[in-house]
Amino acid sequence: MALPLLPLFLFASFLLMKTPSDAATCSDCFVQSRAAYYPVTNEQGTDTGACGYGSFGATINGGDVSAASDLYRDGVGCGACYQVRCTNSNYCSDNGVTVVITDNGGGDRTDFILSRHAFSRMAQTTDAAASLLALGVVDIEYRRVSCSYPNKNITFKIDESSNYPYYLAFAIYYQQGKNDITAVQLCETQNFSCKLLDRSHGAVWTTVSPPSGPLSIRMLFDGDDGDETWVVPVNNIPQDWKVGDTYDSGVQVN
Ligand SMILES: *[C@@H]1O[C@H](CO)[C@@H](O)[C@H](O)[C@H]1NC(C)=O
Ligand SMILES: *[C@@H]1O[C@H](CO)[C@@H](O)[C@H](O)[C@H]1NC(C)=O
Repeated sequence: MALPLLPLFLFASFLLMKTPSDAATCSDCFVQSRAAYYPVTNEQGTDTGACGYGSFGATINGGDVSAASDLYRDGVGCGACYQVRCTNSNYCSDNGVTVVITDNGGGDRTDFILSRHAFSRMAQTTDAAASLLALGVVDIEYRRVSCSYPNKNITFKIDESSNYPYYLAFAIYYQQGKNDITAVQLCETQNFSCKLLDRSHGAVWTTVSPPSGPLSIRMLFDGDDGDETWVVPVNNIPQDWKVGDTYDSGVQVN
């Protein structure tokens, strides 16, 4: 009974393993996939995205945002930027659109659920955009690209779920480049003792009983060639941090 299943299973494993290794050996190559768009009337993305960016999640990058399925990577993919271009030469522009991942979600064999704004921007003209929207789901190809936020530093937003001074949750915004934040440390600035935080969901990191005093939030970025770098902010989170406020780290990455 089990025997006929075996080749299928091996074939499926092969498919699953093929994609990441290809991506690793050819990080600039386009990957074939499909994309749909949010079934909502507003142009931009959602302000309830799984990454935890809140209303910022709908306005970042001019509203060119997307939900990702596999590329969401349990939240590590939040904030990553992708060039996405559709492949129908009648409608689609060469460059497509650059989107930021702000949410988790998938459709029928899609990697991206784009905001309508982003979906339309893959088209050559507004007429072509209307045709694309009418298709609903389109063939695309994508590749990871650097995020760029001119005149922005990496920014911490104290999440609404925080409860001063007992529970601190914050989201990290505006990291440039194409590396992931894989760990975050919260450091006391008096004696520099640090502790690793938990990623609660998306781009949101949390700790119970945060230390008192100004706080320094350090971020570990993975590198293209496997090396990792701790980025130490210039500015601290003030002792009297406030729910909903944003704090400029004073640093940026590329
Ligand atoms: C570091 O300093 C803070 C504030 O002075 C204090 O509350 C905390 O216990 C110290 N931590 C360690 C590990 O010494
Ligand atoms: C970014 O940080 C630098 C110093 O760390 C600061 O001079 C600059 O004003 C900051 N940029 C913005 C846009 O806030």
